Amino acid sequence: MSRPIPTTPWWRDAVVYQVYPRSFRDHDGDGVGDLRGIVEGLGALAELGVDAIWLNPFYPSPQVDAGYDVSDHREVDPLFGDLATFDELVAASHALGLRVVVDLVPNHTSDQHPWFRRALAAAPGSPERQRYLFRPGRGALGDRPPNDWQSVFGGPAWTRVRGHDPTAGEWYLHLFAPQQPDLDWTNAEVRAEYEDVLRFWLDRGVDGFRIDVAHGLAKDPGMPDLSGRFATSGLAHSGHPHWDRDEVHEVFRSWRRVLDGYPGDRMFVAEAYLADAMRLARYVRSDELHTAFNFRFLMATWDVAELRAAVDETLTSHAAVGAPATWVLSNHDVVRTVTRYGGGVAGHRRARAAALLMFALPGSAYVYQGEELGLPEVVDLPDSARQDPTYRRTGGALPGRDGCRVPIPWDAERPACGFSPTGASWLPQPKDWSLLSRDRQQRDGSSMLHLYRRAIALRRSLGTAAPGAAPFEWLDLGPDVLAFSRGSFVSLTNLGPTPVRLPGPGEVVLSSDPAASDRTTSERTVATDVTVWFEPTA
Ligand code: GLC
Repeated sequence: MSRPIPTTPWWRDAVVYQVYPRSFRDHDGDGVGDLRGIVEGLGALAELGVDAIWLNPFYPSPQVDAGYDVSDHREVDPLFGDLATFDELVAASHALGLRVVVDLVPNHTSDQHPWFRRALAAAPGSPERQRYLFRPGRGALGDRPPNDWQSVFGGPAWTRVRGHDPTAGEWYLHLFAPQQPDLDWTNAEVRAEYEDVLRFWLDRGVDGFRIDVAHGLAKDPGMPDLSGRFATSGLAHSGHPHWDRDEVHEVFRSWRRVLDGYPGDRMFVAEAYLADAMRLARYVRSDELHTAFNFRFLMATWDVAELRAAVDETLTSHAAVGAPATWVLSNHDVVRTVTRYGGGVAGHRRARAAALLMFALPGSAYVYQGEELGLPEVVDLPDSARQDPTYRRTGGALPGRDGCRVPIPWDAERPACGFSPTGASWLPQPKDWSLLSRDRQQRDGSSMLHLYRRAIALRRSLGTAAPGAAPFEWLDLGPDVLAFSRGSFVSLTNLGPTPVRLPGPGEVVLSSDPAASDRTTSERTVATDVTVWFEPTA
């Protein structure tokens, strides 16, 4: 299949497929996915029609937080392979026309990173400690944490150092697990180190970076208590002492200068959980990061007003800084779409409709592995299998994120549904996942996989994604309908309880209705929880 030559940077309208390495495909049979497995699976992704892959961390790590506790930023964890296999993966991806985006984890390192080990061995106030955020405790004995900040995974965000200075033990900050100490981004060595890490992977040919916890790097030096001043919704709020502080932007400007020194269209995508779309837009100003995940859209419930507001706010805020929007329905941190939209048949229908809605919007779109198979959240994992630190740190109050990380099914007839040659799987797969396996869906024209494939191909050929080429305009078709035009093309989603009529004569080029498996349909109405792509007769 030949592809049109792109006229704008690829990342402005790309479909990016998120590969979660430990659950994508296991080549060596130890039950954990690996880089070799990803190489084997690339053909399926090229066939799906995506433009790029984003790989979650595969660096050496004690794996306390599934690789987001990095102990060496310039290596591959033996669990996943080695640098030579990574180079092969980049070459094989590029040969298939797929770009490669890797994860950069700058807010914290692993407690096993040589820097942190040295910091523990060094005295309070030493240069080794100044790369992290060590502070004396409160109270006469210093035995109370320096402030009331809480870890995202539950419990206090501070842990007291034992060993070297047992009496005057300092505390160190960790916004996530205690094994993930936060770095001090006012420290020149920290800044220089990460610029060098960027160069290391750019030199190996990567096309971009996903920036983990981009809104967390800067902390209020006064480290004031939160004192209940901020809601604990998980989204950052302005004025917060450790989320979304203005100082983070200086870091991103310096990274942009590094990236711009390289040939080709390389890019950044920020993970920044922010409540305010205008604040998010600051991360994608022209001299900072290129794109940022749009969690506003992901968090919207299946409701016309909410979805419409999410789209409006996103488009307005991004237009103000000339950056393209991104659209995300799921990732490795959130409940899978089918389940979030109600589960069962209804959840599945809505997930199909949401996917077509997403692919019709202007900007780039992200697909989390398994989303194209319509995998639901696995809600009944045995407690003993759960690995996410959230589960244990909240004493089981929160189930954690394992349910969206279960290894994906490839082949109905094989052990572990083809995930692993030995049938091993680091999280158990539900018994009925063979029904959702890729090979079965390939043979079924009404499958979710086919819908994704057609939508991605049509999106390209219709030019819906071409920025500027097809202006976005809402169409008012009643309170239950979300409809907009992109040039000569209309996307219409019916969220109401009764079917709605198409707005006039024309051709339905794609429908999310599982009953309408054909490329075109003569139906003149759109059923509940269905999106159609429609070309009105001029
Ligand atoms: C991001 C990652 C998440 C990880 C956290 C800490 O939110 O997506 O998986 O646990 O950062 O690094």
